Amino acid sequence: MFQIKDQVYWVGVKDWELQSFHGEEYTTNKGSSYNAYLIKDEKIALIDTVWHPFKKEFLDNLEKEIGLENIDLIVVNHAEPDHSGALADLISARPDLPIYCTAKGRDTILGHYHQDWNFQTVKTGDSLSLGKNELVFVEAPMLHWPDSMFTYVQGSNVLLSNDAFGQHYASSEFFNDQVNQCELFLEAMKYYANILTPFSLQVTRKIEQLIGLNLAIDVIAPSHGIIWRDNPLQIIEKYKEWANNYQENRVVVLYDTMWEGTKKMAEAIGRGLGQEGLAYSLLHTAKNDNTQIMLEIFKAKGILVGSSTINNGILTSIAAILEEIKGLKFKNKKAAAFGSYGWSGESVKIISNILAEAKFEIVNEGIRVKYTPTEEDLKMCEEFGNNFAKALK
Ligand code: FEO
Repeated sequence: MFQIKDQVYWVGVKDWELQSFHGEEYTTNKGSSYNAYLIKDEKIALIDTVWHPFKKEFLDNLEKEIGLENIDLIVVNHAEPDHSGALADLISARPDLPIYCTAKGRDTILGHYHQDWNFQTVKTGDSLSLGKNELVFVEAPMLHWPDSMFTYVQGSNVLLSNDAFGQHYASSEFFNDQVNQCELFLEAMKYYANILTPFSLQVTRKIEQLIGLNLAIDVIAPSHGIIWRDNPLQIIEKYKEWANNYQENRVVVLYDTMWEGTKKMAEAIGRGLGQEGLAYSLLHTAKNDNTQIMLEIFKAKGILVGSSTINNGILTSIAAILEEIKGLKFKNKKAAAFGSYGWSGESVKIISNILAEAKFEIVNEGIRVKYTPTEEDLKMCEEFGNNFAKALK
């Protein structure tokens, strides 16, 4: 148990070994943490639990530190299994325990655990007195699931924001003023890019609502990673910026290649972008981590995607990346396709169509080269890069 502020304590678990999250979808090379909290007031409230591999450690610690029989209620801010994984065992020990959650939270818990426990559903503005502190509930649908909710601890002035404002970042330290700032903001932005991008409109509205509530927020304590106590509103400001079509003056060139024809095209296109003074990243999609690729796309004004044609289609690493790009619903970005081929040469058209479906603005019909590019072909690719850079100005 670690005191966060006044009567609010961290009772979570640090997962130093975690290398991937959401199946293999999100690479977590800095591990993560599952931040559950305990409010020790006249009533004792537990906020969220942890992922099931850690449920025994979590419940044993709670039993030792406070005694499970002394917990008066649990708040489930979000029922995804990384936060509700110890719930069934807790309720098995304490079948009467009231579970405060949103109506969607109840549905989600029932969907995962199929048991009709003592649910107390709450809405935005509902509150619950613990003694000195009052819990105030703020629904936060699609930040990032329909059931998501924030709990504000009035008295200790701590906002328990669940996934919002978090990072997959294990650290021996707890607070934002104790860690490397570059690492912290990189992980926070990676988390936003990969998890919250599709819900940017809801993020903007929720932040406006949160600001309108005029809560005195001394600490923002998310359910993953580092807790914001030094100027905690800075992460809210960052979210506002990231949710508002955030982009830097740079481009990502993504490619996969069979016999290096498409690779040579990618390099020449990159030279063309550079000649126009545009920063770019050149990423082989089968050799780079998807989570990092999504972060690079999030930061970019535009993307260029290249694949060799194979069996009238595209290479599988490019197909997988395009599927992920579609899901993240990036906005206000330009795109074009390129690729080498031997005889049929469909890759450029297929990529352009998928990018258009993903709502990228396609700036031209793309560029194709038959077999290995000649010097003249590479010159054309450089010009293609020049023109793409000009289209972004
Ligand atoms: Fe950290 Fe949406 O679970």
